[in-house]
Amino acid sequence: MPMLLQVENLSVGFRSVQPGTGTPRMARAVEEVSFCLDRGGSLCLVGESGCGKSVTALSLLGLLPSPPARLLGGRVLFEGEDMLRLPPEKLNRLRGGRIGMIFQEPMTSLNPVLKVGEQVAEPLIVHFGMRPAEALKRAVELLAEVGLNNPDRRAADYPHQLSGGMRQRVMIAMAMACRPSLLIADEPTTALDVSVQGQILDLMREMRESAGSALLMITHDLDVVARSADQVAVMYAGRIVESGPVGATLADPLHPYTAGLVASRPRLGWEQRSGLDVMRAKLVQARHGRLSAIPGTVPPPLERPDGCAFSTRCPQVFDRCRAEMPPLLPLTDGKVNEGRSCRCWLR
Ligand SMILES: Nc1ncnc2c1ncn2[C@@H]1O[C@H](COP(=O)(O)OP(=O)(O)OP(=O)(O)O)[C@@H](O)[C@H]1O
Ligand SMILES: [Mg+2]
Repeated sequence: MPMLLQVENLSVGFRSVQPGTGTPRMARAVEEVSFCLDRGGSLCLVGESGCGKSVTALSLLGLLPSPPARLLGGRVLFEGEDMLRLPPEKLNRLRGGRIGMIFQEPMTSLNPVLKVGEQVAEPLIVHFGMRPAEALKRAVELLAEVGLNNPDRRAADYPHQLSGGMRQRVMIAMAMACRPSLLIADEPTTALDVSVQGQILDLMREMRESAGSALLMITHDLDVVARSADQVAVMYAGRIVESGPVGATLADPLHPYTAGLVASRPRLGWEQRSGLDVMRAKLVQARHGRLSAIPGTVPPPLERPDGCAFSTRCPQVFDRCRAEMPPLLPLTDGKVNEGRSCRCWLR
């Protein structure tokens, strides 16, 4: 069976000007990003702010403003069709239909002047051709499925009458209304407090398991990765630097950047973590040195160093890193590292 989603060498830039000189330049925000997603599978793109996670997701969906954004290369095969080359009306039909989307801030995605029931009903009318009364009835069922009490009454509320967590539940109901084969979620829980975050992640899992949807999740939070996906791709400065199964990647990161993210994973104090977590973290520290937080920030596209983009922050940097960009290569050392790739001269 073919893959559900195959992203091949996706490169996206923004028309920009060189700081200082004012010369026009192409800021390459995403460079040669490739990943695949099986039907029903789940993959997280993770990395710090400015790594290119949202640009990747938005370009799949044709949602980047162009100009300034420009597709510089690559293909995105969804159910066999290249989404980057679909005519706008066909792409529109996919969005909200076979592809559901959830974004970080529900207030920007929900329409403030429409009742939430009408908003959840809309994709059913547009994509399934339901009559409005029938769609509204299904919308109320969906609001119940995402855990809203009194869904009949809530359906008549406007978004501002709901809490942040409830609004995110409404977004999930909308995104899942047409039982999409792919759900794309960009930082869906970042604006929520930790306990609500967990509930929303559990809800997303239940909803997508019942619909058989695959998940492409974008987050900067490794706890979200651990809770929501089977596969992870770590992005740094527009490129994937490591990818593989979530368990192995978090337990034994290959790339110094991933190791830095793992070692600086906040949230729980040592005493609250399981013995296994503590052991793993000690192992990572023994191998990669203590990185309580990675110093510095992700360089913007026009300020990336030569060679490996992480070389300016890497505790294990050596000469070759500053001169040559390492390729992303699959690991070949046996079963434990099956399905893992890393972009580092040390591997
Ligand atoms: N509309 C735009 N015009 C110009 N540059 C942009 C635009 N959108 C994004 N960029 C640039 O592309 C790069 C990647 O941004 P992106 O939004 O994908 O980061 P991200 O990984 O999603 O970060 P965050 O965690 O903050 O959401 C950044 O350097 C950003 O400045
Ligand atoms: Mg983003």
